[in-house]
Amino acid sequence: MNPSSSTAGASSALPGHPFVAYQGAALQVEGVALSALAAEHGTPLFVYSKAAMLAALAAYQRGFAGRHVQICYAMKANSSLGVLQVFAQAGCGFDIVSGGELERVLAAGGQASKVIFSGVGKTRREMRQALQAGIGCFNVESEAELDVLSEVALSMGLRAPVSIRVNPDVDPKTHPYISTGLKGSKFGVAHDRVVKTYQHAAKLPGIQVKGIDCHIGSQITEVAPYLDTVDKMLDFVSDIQAEGVVIDHIDFGGGLGINYHGDKPPAADDLWAQLLAKLDARGFGHKKLMIEPGRSLVGNAGLCLTEVLYLKPGEQKNFCIIDAAMNDLPRPAMYQAFHAIVPLQRDAGPRSESVYDVVGPICESGDWIGRDRTLAVQAGDQLAVLSAGAYCMSMASNYNTRGRAAELLVDGQQVHLIRERESAADQMRHERLVGG
Ligand code: LLP
Repeated sequence: MNPSSSTAGASSALPGHPFVAYQGAALQVEGVALSALAAEHGTPLFVYSKAAMLAALAAYQRGFAGRHVQICYAMKANSSLGVLQVFAQAGCGFDIVSGGELERVLAAGGQASKVIFSGVGKTRREMRQALQAGIGCFNVESEAELDVLSEVALSMGLRAPVSIRVNPDVDPKTHPYISTGLKGSKFGVAHDRVVKTYQHAAKLPGIQVKGIDCHIGSQITEVAPYLDTVDKMLDFVSDIQAEGVVIDHIDFGGGLGINYHGDKPPAADDLWAQLLAKLDARGFGHKKLMIEPGRSLVGNAGLCLTEVLYLKPGEQKNFCIIDAAMNDLPRPAMYQAFHAIVPLQRDAGPRSESVYDVVGPICESGDWIGRDRTLAVQAGDQLAVLSAGAYCMSMASNYNTRGRAAELLVDGQQVHLIRERESAADQMRHERLVGG
C-alpha cells in the first residue's frame, strides 16, 4: 500500500508527537495522510508510527550508552504482533505477565532468553511453559510463589532463574489504580521480609537467584520517586549481599510517563543520567541493569482514527457521538484519563465551534472519550484520538459485540496492516449452541 500524501502547506508537528503533523490542513503520520488510511480501512482504526517507537527506544539507548543493560519492553502496553516485531528486531527483550504473552513474543520473533516474567499470580502451567521456553528470569512476588516455582523447576530437572520483586514503599504520585510500590499494594515483597525471602530462595534446590526488581507505578512524571527507589533498592542489594547471596542484576521496572495533556515527564535519557549518577556514586555502576518500560515506548506512537456519527445537542451538554468507544479506548472510563482529540482535516469548511462531550455508541454513561472539548465538527468528519499507542488496543474488549479495530503500522511511506478488523464471526468462533 502506498497512500497519497498531501504536500501543500507548511508542516507543523503536534507538541509531544514529533511524527504526527499537519501538512497544510491534513493530519499525517510520518508524512502519510491519515484521512486516506481511514477511507481505505474504515474506522475506528489504530495507526502506529514505527519511527516514533524507535525514537522513544533510542532515548533509553542513549541514556544507557556504555552500560550493561537489557531493555525489556513491557508488552502489556501494546502486545500486537507487528509492534512486538519492531522491538524484537531492535534487540529488545520483553517483560511478560502471562503464558499468552510468551507465545506472542515467540510468534513475533523475540528471544526467550531475553524474556522476564512478572506478575503476582503465575500458574504452574505458565511456569512450566516459561521454563520449557528457557526464559531469562522470573520476577517472583512472594515466598509462596518461590516454593511452587522451585517444585515445578525441580520436576523438570531445572533450576529457575529468579529475581525477587521488592516493594520499596515509594509514592509514584500517579493514579491510585496504577501505583504499585506502596505499602498496602498487592505487589512485591514487603521491606522487612526482603532479606529473609532471599535467604529462603538461596536454600531452595529449584531456584537460582539472579537479581532484584521493582516497579513502583505507571505514568510517573517526576524524577524524585525514581531517585528514592534507587536508594532503597541499593540498600536492599547491600543487605542481601551481606548475607552472602549474590545479586547479578538490578531491574528498576518501568513507569515513565508520557505527555497526554501538558504532562512534563523527564526524557528517558535525562532521567537515566540522574539515576546512573546515583548508582555510580554508591558504587553499583558496574552491575547489569534491566528496565521494563511500556507506555513510554509506544504511547505517543499511536492514534485512533474515528468518525463523527451524530451531533446531539442537549439541555446541559452537547454530545459528539463517534464510532470509537470505551471498548476501543478504555482509559477515560477506567482512569478518567485525558486523550487529546483533533480533526484529521483542519479546514473542512464552515463549522461552528461548540463544547461537546465526545462519546461512543456503547450503552453506558461511562462510555466517554473526552469531556468538555471545544470542537468545530459535523457528522461525517474524521477525528484522531491521540496518545493511543499504549493500554488501548491491549485493553480493548468486545463489549456490545463490537469487533476490535484494525491496526496499521506506518514505516516511512510503507503502511502495513498488522491487525484486521475483527468480525462478529471472529467473536463467535469459540462459542457453541447447547446441543448444536
Ligand atoms: N513492569 C511491570 C511489572 C508492570 O506492572 C508494568 C505496568 C510495567 C513494567 C510497565 O509500566 P509502564 O512503563 O507502561 O508505565 N492500564 C494502565 C497502566 C497499567 C500499568 C500496569 N503495569 C493505564 O492505561 O494507564
